[in-house]
Amino acid sequence: MSGPNTDYDPVEVAAVSPAEVEAARDAALAAIAAATDLERLKVVRSEHTGDRSPLALANREIGALPPQARKEAGQRIGQARGAVNQAFGARQAELEVEHEARILVEEAVDVTLPTDRDPVGSRHPLTTGAELIADIFVAMGWEVAEGPVIEAEWLNFDALNLGPDHPARTMQDTFWTDPGEDHLVLRTHTSPVQARTMLSRGVTDDAPIYVVCPGRVFRTDEYDATHSPMFHQVEGLAIDKDISMAHLKGTLDHFASQMFGEGITTRFRPSYFPFTEPSAEVDLVCFVCRGVNPEACRTCRGEGWIEWGGCGIVNPRVLQACGIDSSRYSGFAFGMGIDRTLMFRHGLEDLRTLFEGDVRFTTAFGSEL
Ligand code: DAH
Repeated sequence: MSGPNTDYDPVEVAAVSPAEVEAARDAALAAIAAATDLERLKVVRSEHTGDRSPLALANREIGALPPQARKEAGQRIGQARGAVNQAFGARQAELEVEHEARILVEEAVDVTLPTDRDPVGSRHPLTTGAELIADIFVAMGWEVAEGPVIEAEWLNFDALNLGPDHPARTMQDTFWTDPGEDHLVLRTHTSPVQARTMLSRGVTDDAPIYVVCPGRVFRTDEYDATHSPMFHQVEGLAIDKDISMAHLKGTLDHFASQMFGEGITTRFRPSYFPFTEPSAEVDLVCFVCRGVNPEACRTCRGEGWIEWGGCGIVNPRVLQACGIDSSRYSGFAFGMGIDRTLMFRHGLEDLRTLFEGDVRFTTAFGSEL
């Protein structure tokens, strides 16, 4: 059996000489300090601490030293390697911080820069608003009817019981077209669509009339925050057997709550329109104060109610003028401003914002509804 190799033959191993180890350590420290980014530091690390690095080779040579020399060499090389690893760790942390700081600057996004995308348009709130109104009625089985904006004087006035000498005819300041003998007007309300519908399709027990008519109307009004020579109305007409004021009230209450929310109903005040008898003004429960403590409410100015439109039971004279047997059929009608309705719904203070075509307004109010 062979015993331990006591007569060890010392070999000079150059790699573990103090000068070599120091030189290797200093070279590693210098390379680490000189690495200016993480990529470079990675290369430096494998060169100076990898398996083939001078310090790793020196470490391996320890085994070849005489036993009494190993401890001292092991300590020296261990310290050198420790110093290199520590320097590496510190430099790595430094470079990571720098890297993150640089990324934050380089990849910063200026959210205030104008974009070069094509802006997406949106439909005008009057269009979507008129559609919403039509939808409320279509959901009840009504139809939508339209008529021309240049209307026969007879349909705009006479058929609706506003004869040439009727005092109410002057209530509506009319735009007349040239030449006067054509007897054409820019329609002053959507009510002529009632007359057109009755004349064109008549009414039978099987085919009653339930139509809603949104559209553009014209009057010689000033252009200001609450008036415009062009505005929009919606007209409703129901002709059937045994139609009563109760049907009218129920219909308008439903319309109001669909438009303005649960609990917003209507009240009627006696009024006069030549085409309805009896006639009423329709008011809405104030959608701001809801009629609770209205004294402080700026919207209804203490009333608790807001004027919305006109309505009534269709005057038999109108039914007769439009070819409907008034002894068998009766009907109700109503009319209100769409612009005004939308102003309420969106809290708009100036009617003109609806007409000025500012795309910022359209985008803000045209997308909902
Ligand atoms: N046409 C009326 C106006 O423009 C509004 C109106 C009132 C319409 C009563 C109606 C109605 O159908 O019954 O002022």
